[in-house]
Amino acid sequence: VADRADIAIVGAGLIGCAIALELAERGRSVVVLERSVPGAEASTVAAGILAPQVEHPDDALLASLGEDSRELHAAWAERLRERVGIDVGFRRTGALVVGHSSGALDARAAHYEARGVAHEKLDGAEARTVEPAISPQVQTAISLPNEAQVEPPRLLRALSLACELAGVRFVRSVVRGVRAEAGRVTGLDLEDGPLAAAEVVVAAGSWTSLVPGAGAAGRGRDGTLREVRPVRGQLVHAEAHPRLVTRLIFGSGGYVVPRGDGRYVCGATTEEAGFEKEVTLGGIHQVLERALVVVPGLASAKLVGHAVSFRPGTPDGRPLVGRGALPGLWIASGHYRNGILLAPITAKLLGAAMAGEADDPRLEALSPRRFEALAEAT
Ligand code: GLY
Repeated sequence: VADRADIAIVGAGLIGCAIALELAERGRSVVVLERSVPGAEASTVAAGILAPQVEHPDDALLASLGEDSRELHAAWAERLRERVGIDVGFRRTGALVVGHSSGALDARAAHYEARGVAHEKLDGAEARTVEPAISPQVQTAISLPNEAQVEPPRLLRALSLACELAGVRFVRSVVRGVRAEAGRVTGLDLEDGPLAAAEVVVAAGSWTSLVPGAGAAGRGRDGTLREVRPVRGQLVHAEAHPRLVTRLIFGSGGYVVPRGDGRYVCGATTEEAGFEKEVTLGGIHQVLERALVVVPGLASAKLVGHAVSFRPGTPDGRPLVGRGALPGLWIASGHYRNGILLAPITAKLLGAAMAGEADDPRLEALSPRRFEALAEAT
């Protein structure tokens, strides 16, 4: 077991692996702590949607980070194919947001107009020309040609292999807490002993608020960072031939992600259910109902399976990326619905900040410490 590293990263989800690779390529020695295998939780359950404009029509900051990150994904896909020989399934399929009444998407379109986002407004008939399997009930749609997707299980496999090739060490252990002495981070307490590290990055997704010492002393129980909570998402996997749709389809509160080879991912519930990892009849019913309202032909698709996981939610819906409460402590968590999308930009921005380079101005709004004044006042 490694008992010393420049940097210890808590969590081998996509965010932890992405940061590990960035730091290893910058010449740092990196250990990633994971109680299971890389990507065991949300990172491989996620649908792999890279659609910042669909997700954030009215949040220019997240849309801009997401756009940059979507393009970094394209570059990652190339690099990973060359380096480890895995096709991560990056495809720029574009997205179609659909509405069931004629004015349903006007506010969304106005945001796109104002921000100069590449998009095309369609009526129902036009929408069915580009995607014939869309419901006849659809009255309006917006096509976003630059949105993309990736296959998370392949991405995790490729990225964890690339990490190992770059010298990152993965250690399977339970993290008991962040160690600190004289007001600065000195490493981690693991279930089987201490790990010395000059810097610690907490990238534990929905479990971030359970890591003692990840927050400021005196806040939360054991100095935990309280702001991250699990938001359950249930998904359904299906298969249909011949092909129904080619774009990512969003409507009626759900989405359909076509992999291009007959596989479809339909999602997803958004549930405050703590860490109850149940797949429920109500959840699956809701996912299917929303998918079928938009793409009725999915009714005769083969049911392949279901999945469930937890998105790391935050009070303002924005991630926590940057310096933690102690020197040497860094947080990269709270990516909510967009952990897959935002992994490359998170790694890039955090890697630069950790190297002492000038912070990207967008990091300020993501500061993990932005809720502290609020917490202290209450
Ligand atoms: N990114 C889609 C979801 O979280 O369901």
